[in-house]
Amino acid sequence: MKAYSIAAIPGDGIGPEVIAEGVKVLNAAARLHDFTIEWKQYPFGADHYLATGEVLTEQNLAELARHDAIYFGACGDERVAPGILEKGLVIAIRMYCDQYINVRPIRLLPGIRSPLRDKSAKDIEFVVIRENTEDFYVAAGSRVSAKRQHDSLRVTRKLYTVDFAIDVQHTSESMAYQIGLVTAEGIRRAVSYAFKLAQRRRRHVTLIDKANVLTDMYSLWREVSREVAAGFPDVSTEYMLVDAAAMWFVRSPEMFDVVAAPNMFGDILTDLGAAIQGGLGTSAGANVNPEGVSMFEPIHGSAPPLKGLQKANPIATIWAGAMMLETIGQPEAAAGVMRAIERNLERGRVRTGDLGGTATTSQVGDDIVECMQPN
Ligand code: IPM
Ligand code: MN
Repeated sequence: MKAYSIAAIPGDGIGPEVIAEGVKVLNAAARLHDFTIEWKQYPFGADHYLATGEVLTEQNLAELARHDAIYFGACGDERVAPGILEKGLVIAIRMYCDQYINVRPIRLLPGIRSPLRDKSAKDIEFVVIRENTEDFYVAAGSRVSAKRQHDSLRVTRKLYTVDFAIDVQHTSESMAYQIGLVTAEGIRRAVSYAFKLAQRRRRHVTLIDKANVLTDMYSLWREVSREVAAGFPDVSTEYMLVDAAAMWFVRSPEMFDVVAAPNMFGDILTDLGAAIQGGLGTSAGANVNPEGVSMFEPIHGSAPPLKGLQKANPIATIWAGAMMLETIGQPEAAAGVMRAIERNLERGRVRTGDLGGTATTSQVGDDIVECMQPN
């Protein structure tokens, strides 16, 4: 019997509650499809950081990367300054494992009402492929408090190293800067992934950028995308500015099949995508390294006010779990989990508050397990 080893990081806030339901449902899927999952739980998150002073060590990262996949809940806690956990945990894992693709399905599931009054399931069914290692997420920047400052900034990726030596001299009261960077290699691998995915779907790719203002970075994005597109003559291509894309997500989501976006625009657009598919409670994502170890997580954050109340919707996390099963090589089990989520939503009896119900997080997990049983 095939056995998988999966690292679970429940994290902060509602993370532990939703991950518990994901583990429950995936174990049930494993039993039905004759494989086993060996879970290793890791305590990383705010409590661990406050107790040890470390978010993740190099050794922790190396250990996480030895599993078949990583299942992540959420991070963020009011006791810790913003950025420490996000950068030290989520971003660190994405970069260490070179998870250069962020896959975010935008799909209106049955039984969920979109806030877009006139749109139904057939209109809201696309995938955002977000480049996941570059752009403004390279974390190269500085606060310049003196009138003069020299900064040496280094960006190290599996593909390349970039060094900046920056002399700043300014007359302002106080200033800060943040560097975004994209490379031909980084763009090529992300955009190629989007095109390959489109070949298995409706064969249309919308490429997002802001090439009318951030001309340097996004003219390279367009140039490399054009080269990639030339290799996929069966897929149609459209270039769209990110502000216009935000409008079209709301006005005509049916025009999208695969959307390829640079990191930060992809981050913003996928929260909008989550909203049109009925909310963050049912929106999942995967950080994928097609040649390595991938990480699966709900798009939502840790929602501190809901912590421990059993009010969080576990569907986003369970959906991310289905994406994980598909990626590790269990597509039938993955499809079974998705069908069970859909059945739970169609029946509509066991739902959390965000979907108008009164059920607990754990009752939703139990119902999805029940929906998965063959009958
Ligand atoms: C997301 C989150 C992360 C991001 C944070 C938590 C680092 O917002 O996965 O969309 O900005 O990518
Ligand atoms: Mn986000």
